Amino acid sequence: MNFKKLTDCYELSNGVKIPCLGLGTWQSADGKESYDSVYAALKNGYRHIDTATAYGNEESIGNAVCDFIKNTGTPRQDIFITTKLWNDDHGYQTTKSALELSLKKLKTDYIDLYLIHWPNPLKFRDCWAEKNAESWQAMEELYKEGKIRAIGLSNFCERHIKPLLKAASIKPMVNQIKVCPGQIQQELSNYSRNLGMLIESYSPLGRGEIFKNDEMALLAKKYSRTVAQVCLRWNLQCGNLPLPKSTKEERLIENSQIFDFELEQEDMQKIANLSGLETQLARNPDEAPF
Ligand code: A2P
Repeated sequence: MNFKKLTDCYELSNGVKIPCLGLGTWQSADGKESYDSVYAALKNGYRHIDTATAYGNEESIGNAVCDFIKNTGTPRQDIFITTKLWNDDHGYQTTKSALELSLKKLKTDYIDLYLIHWPNPLKFRDCWAEKNAESWQAMEELYKEGKIRAIGLSNFCERHIKPLLKAASIKPMVNQIKVCPGQIQQELSNYSRNLGMLIESYSPLGRGEIFKNDEMALLAKKYSRTVAQVCLRWNLQCGNLPLPKSTKEERLIENSQIFDFELEQEDMQKIANLSGLETQLARNPDEAPF
């Protein structure tokens, strides 16, 4: 890991390059808010946008990406777009239809990375493993057709990954999970990495909680950086791909300036073990009310 800029990439197990930091868009409202933040991110050098059908903002994001391409001549291939299959759409045919709808909303011919958003939807709680296998088969076919450049998982634990692997002929390339200071999910990260998956970190700023933490404030002072920058740098140095969300241009810029300093090993450990940041623990997928 020796990233120097936003456009430097991790390489997925199938050779696809993925920019090392992306813009998270969960809770970016559809319409002007999502359009403006995605356009501002692209204008400021971001080349990786993470969305999901469930966020309800694919259309605004598609508009922002299209306008940016049109206004700047940036090739579509230079922008990496991730979206996710929603829980209600698990199944073979429904996955194919959901992907078509996402393509339409995002106004693109292909998705760079398509993830199963959650492993155990409420709607399919008695047959989740079969449903994941069906969705995965559809995703493998869409991948082979070139409609998706990479396929992966989100919020999957070891107990969900194991049955999926039994049914899969293509291994997932990504597991997107919540990783932030004090919530490192070490075992799941190691397990996923050993299977060749890249860990993408959602809510890497602890959904804003890290800004209340005194220890993080002290570290920020030590490195003459902001709390957000120390936090995101930590995530990157863990070998993960952070997806911070912001709808404010100045914060988007701040969050992208993490390539000109390095955290000492001792501080990496300190951040991993931070306490007091557990009010929003990663949800147990088997108990999610959706
Ligand atoms: P906003 O969108 O108003 O900027 P996470 O990525 O962990 O989900 O955290 C997102 C939260 O952190 C949002 O509330 C976002 O608010 C806020 N945020 C993002 N970047 C920064 C920053 N650099 N400084 C302060 N708050 C930030």
